[in-house]
Amino acid sequence: MKSVRIAPISNPIQKEFGEREIAPDKSISHRAVIFSLLAEGTSEIDNFLRAEDTLNSLAIVQKLGGKVEERDNKIFITSSGDIEEPDDILDCGNSGTAMRLFAGFLASVDGAFILTGDKYLRKRPMKRVTEPLRKIGAFIDGRNNGELAPLFIRGGKIRSFNYSSPIASAQVKSAMILAGLFADDVSVYSEPQLSRDHTERMLRGMGAKIEKMKGGKILIRPLFFPLQPLKIKVPTDPSSGFFFAVAGAIVPNSKVVLKNILLNKTRIEAYRILEKMGAKIQFIERESKYESVGDIVVEYGELQGVEVSENIPWLIDEIPALAIAMSVAKGESIVRNAKELRVKESDRIRAVVENLRNCNIEVEELEDGFRIVGGSPKSAIINSFGDHRIAMSFAILGLRVGMTIEDIENVRTSFPNFFEILSQWTKVEETE
Ligand code: S3P
Repeated sequence: MKSVRIAPISNPIQKEFGEREIAPDKSISHRAVIFSLLAEGTSEIDNFLRAEDTLNSLAIVQKLGGKVEERDNKIFITSSGDIEEPDDILDCGNSGTAMRLFAGFLASVDGAFILTGDKYLRKRPMKRVTEPLRKIGAFIDGRNNGELAPLFIRGGKIRSFNYSSPIASAQVKSAMILAGLFADDVSVYSEPQLSRDHTERMLRGMGAKIEKMKGGKILIRPLFFPLQPLKIKVPTDPSSGFFFAVAGAIVPNSKVVLKNILLNKTRIEAYRILEKMGAKIQFIERESKYESVGDIVVEYGELQGVEVSENIPWLIDEIPALAIAMSVAKGESIVRNAKELRVKESDRIRAVVENLRNCNIEVEELEDGFRIVGGSPKSAIINSFGDHRIAMSFAILGLRVGMTIEDIENVRTSFPNFFEILSQWTKVEETE
């Protein structure tokens, strides 16, 4: 098991991250390679995230018949519009996004498919996709009556649907949209609150008829012909960039510029919370083809405690890093309505609570979040629980107080050069 020891930083951070320094967006990278299979022709993906999760999606796309070439930092995927039945299982590794999106996509594809993943993914809930997919005619099963991977799918005919999801989940929404594109008639999907909407934007950009209706419902018209190939440049991932936003906000006199970052409102809510806490933040917006992209500037400010209980799906992945900002803020912070944190790559409520307690911070565990009393965290040995975002969040706290993080291999799933960046500013020692 690999560990890392981070020494406290001695100077303020003054850093402008160039266009390609921080990991490209994970959600968009997964979708780009998966959606290329819906097109006839060659899709072009610039700045694809070369991390374990998205490389697993790319490998699955290849097994399903996508022809992959790489040139000038770009990936080209040629698809005939027809899917090949693979002669082996499809391994999603650590990625819930890959498993749930492929489940929805393969539900209508002629053939037999097995989706599996690592020991963490095999514990995560899959009924949220298998149940609604079964209701519309999909043959999909897994351990515990479809709750746990490995999942087995025999693709077949899909009936149109009108489905109201009980959870605001982009993965469930994407799975149902992908199934709906191959249904026998027009389908309608609704969710309690808007979740990240890259699937709708990208598929619309490729020519799919996916319409937003009143009240946030989504109308999905079946495809009668393959989509146009995708041509996309993946922007910087705001979830990965957020670790450095927190670094800039908690190390006195620092300034961090994140260039060419995704500014979709469903992805930058955590920056707005950091701003509310007292960091100085500027959003400089430019338009791009599928999504809004621009720069974010973060400057140190004295942080105050904050209450976070709204727009949770828009900041769910950033809550562990926000908890770090809360641990050094003045006063009490509270996170509520975030029960989904318990079924991410780890139980992130437990992971945050246990590790902050190790750092001598007063924390109360709630069923759907936590309460943190900001103070002076101490250096400690952190258990990442095999979760990349827990490891990276506490590494950022390490910049202030020093930290040892155990079990860091999972950082490769989303941000392979994360520790390399930290080592520009402080001593980072990796041990086996
Ligand atoms: C993702 C959606 C979110 C997020 C995950 C990536 C996506 O999960 O937490 O890291 O790419 O669709 P849910 O859709 O389950 O909320």
